[in-house]
Amino acid sequence: MSVSINAVRSLSFADSHMSAILVENVEGYEADGIVVNLSTETIYVEGEVDTPVQPWRSVMLRSKIIRKADKIAVLKIKNLENLGAVSLRGWEWFGDIYDGFPRQTPLYMSSIDTVGTVTEDPFVFTRERTTVEAPQEFEIKLKCWWSPNETDCFIHNEHPFLEVHTQIHGYGRMQKSRERDASTVYEDVIMAPGFTHEPFCIVTGKNEWTYPWHRYYTDVESIWLAVELHPITWDWMKTVGRTLFPPRTRPAKKARGTLWWQIRHSTGVFSAQLPSR
Ligand SMILES: [Fe+2]
Repeated sequence: MSVSINAVRSLSFADSHMSAILVENVEGYEADGIVVNLSTETIYVEGEVDTPVQPWRSVMLRSKIIRKADKIAVLKIKNLENLGAVSLRGWEWFGDIYDGFPRQTPLYMSSIDTVGTVTEDPFVFTRERTTVEAPQEFEIKLKCWWSPNETDCFIHNEHPFLEVHTQIHGYGRMQKSRERDASTVYEDVIMAPGFTHEPFCIVTGKNEWTYPWHRYYTDVESIWLAVELHPITWDWMKTVGRTLFPPRTRPAKKARGTLWWQIRHSTGVFSAQLPSR
């Protein structure tokens, strides 16, 4: 399916206090807000000197042109008054989603928006190599988190996906620790609006990424965006994929032994290249 130039749609977590849009097939698009590069290509901000934004990185712009991009998200806080009332705007307390979450921690999560697929080499995503050798398909999922000041957003080290975070509002830190114990923190990555941290994980197997113990910790009230790359696998198709798209998911074509699937969902039709079985 061809996407029109500068095709814009709202992300599911956009609300009265935060605009959040997805822009696809970007060409000469004037962006106003925090722009996240959701593609594997470097994009350029127009200027007297064009400046690059690396894949999975971000920049804060004031009505400035992005020359060309496959896909970007643009987020901007519009209203500070009652910004923290996210639970009254549909966000969920994380303790209601994850039973093991501390019962007194005020961490809230927005809805999740799946914004399409991307072909990425996990080793390139993690910066363990610079050339693409083992590309695979991922679904890109976006969601936002909110916490008030001085919130411990839980030390963890397990993710079945690749993740980075972009600070949207407030200030905080991504911390790494030797153990699941805040007294063992050994690195603080300071998060300020518009900044995306480097990936914390390394590739340790097929669809296996090893993370150090880490957590987000707010200094002041913060909203931060999670950008997650979830691998599309045969198991995914057999379970999640068929649950989500049962009657309309079908093989689309075969090319050089690789099976492509055409998937229809609420945001359109896309083709997913699956790994060989
Ligand atoms: Fe994490």
